[in-house]
Order: sequence, then C-alpha cells, then structure tokens
Amino acid sequence: MSNVFEEQVLDVRHWTDTLFSFSTTRDPGCRFKSGQFVMLGLPAEGLPGEGRPLMRAYSIASPHYADVLDFFSIKVPNGPLTSKLQTIRPGDRIIVGRKATGTLVIDNLKSGATLYLLATGTGLAPFLSTIRDPETYERFDKVVLVHGVRTIAELAYRELIETELPNDEFLGELITEKLTYYPTVTREEFRNRGRITHLITSGKLFDDIGLPALDPGRDRVMMCGSPALLADMTPILEQAGFAEGNTGEPGDYVVEKAFAER
Ligand code: A2P
Repeated sequence: MSNVFEEQVLDVRHWTDTLFSFSTTRDPGCRFKSGQFVMLGLPAEGLPGEGRPLMRAYSIASPHYADVLDFFSIKVPNGPLTSKLQTIRPGDRIIVGRKATGTLVIDNLKSGATLYLLATGTGLAPFLSTIRDPETYERFDKVVLVHGVRTIAELAYRELIETELPNDEFLGELITEKLTYYPTVTREEFRNRGRITHLITSGKLFDDIGLPALDPGRDRVMMCGSPALLADMTPILEQAGFAEGNTGEPGDYVVEKAFAER
C-alpha cells in the first residue's frame, strides 16, 4: 500500500500576494484529529528533477468530518514547493501523506475552562479545524481564537469565522455561545492592534474580551505560527506556570514545532 493518497484540487483561493488556500478531494481512508498535519506535495513530474515528490508539512484546515481537505499556505517566491503549489488549479493532482500527526490536539491538554488558540499568519490553519469540532466545545467552556497578522487583508477566513460559523446549522449555537474571535493587525489601522505577545503581557487582550489574565489553573493554550511568536510566547507561558504537553503527556499548553519556514 502506498503511503500517500493522490487527491484532486477542487478549489483555490488567493487571499493576498503571499497567502492562498485550496481544497482537495479526500480519500475515505484519510483520518485525522482536529489540529493535526499531513505531508503534502505535488506529483514528482510537476517538479524539476526526477524522483520522490517534494513534501512539506501542512495543517489540515478543514473539520475532521468534512468530505474535502482544506489547506492554507504562504507563497514563498523561490520556495521549492510553494512557488509551484501557488499555481495549482482545480483538477490538478496533489499528493497527501497517509499519516496525520501533530501535537495541537486537545487530547494533549489537561482539562480546563478556557482554551486559547494563538496563531500568526498561516498558523491559523489547524485551529480552523479545532473551532469546527464539537468536541472542542465539550471540553472547554470558552474558546478564544487570536489571529495575528500584518495587514487586514491577511485576516484570511475572517468571514467564515465571523459570519458563516455563527450561522451554521449545526455549530452556530455552540460557536455563538463559546467562541471568541480576536483578530489583530500589526502594520495598519484596525480595531485590534499589536502583537499577540504584547496583547497578552499588557493585559489588553483580556480587557478587550472580558476574561481574566492567563492562569494555568484554568486556561489552556495552543500556539501555531511564526517561530518568533513561539520563541517569545513560550517563556511568557512558562513564567506564568504553564507546563508544556505532548502526545501521551497532557499539559497546560502545546505548540507545533513541525513547521519550518516553507
Ligand atoms: P510584526 O508586524 O510586528 O512583525 P509574519 O507575516 O512575519 O509571519 O508575521 C505575522 C504576524 O506575527 C505579524 O503581525 C507580526 O508582527 C507577528 N509577529 C512577528 N514576530 C512576533 C513575535 N515574536 N511575537 C508575536 N507576534 C509576532
């Protein structure tokens, strides 16, 4: 049995010059938990040189019960994969690794009252799956999704989160009651401004959403995004008494380290 699925691109959306997303067919054998990632690539003949397809880790942005897969990607001008991937069109073939994995799953967190999902840029992707999983709302009373980007245009999926999900036939009520979405922009005027780290250390985030400052006795955190965010947020959490969780060892926070620059 091959260790990859070959899927077909269904839809492509270009958000900005540097961000795009796409959906593909989903093999019924493709199983994953909300927040996990798979290896993804183009068939070898679509790339220069022969041999194995070039694969990169991509979080699955669609819910685990959807019959399609969604991915959210940056475009790296000379990136070996994304320079090609950004030109895909409906009908093109995509290679998806069979094995989904990753630390950003709620099983890796101890129980708690509020779940904070902190993302910059395409780090939003795994949380698009998490916020559409009813189990997330069974485990937590409140879910706070913070998305930090440079410009308003980079607030991808904003309409889905702000408008479509609260009106969703099945999830609408849960989401309206429990999900707080906090988009923040660093390089132009917007209702919320500033880096996630600063919003947390200054207390501005908590003032704005009406919740108390982070407390490991009550709150759980998942982080995904730029290496700088992860490097700066980790000591903030550790100093506040949060312990990192891993597969088989639930903790107060989890972070995905699988994504290098891509
Ligand atoms: P900033 O504009 O101040 O650099 P990028 O597009 O570079 O991946 O950044 C995405 C978002 O993450 C931007 O809003 C950026 O803010 C922010 N960011 C960059 N570094 C950090 C950090 N160390 N902590 C928190 N946010 C960060």
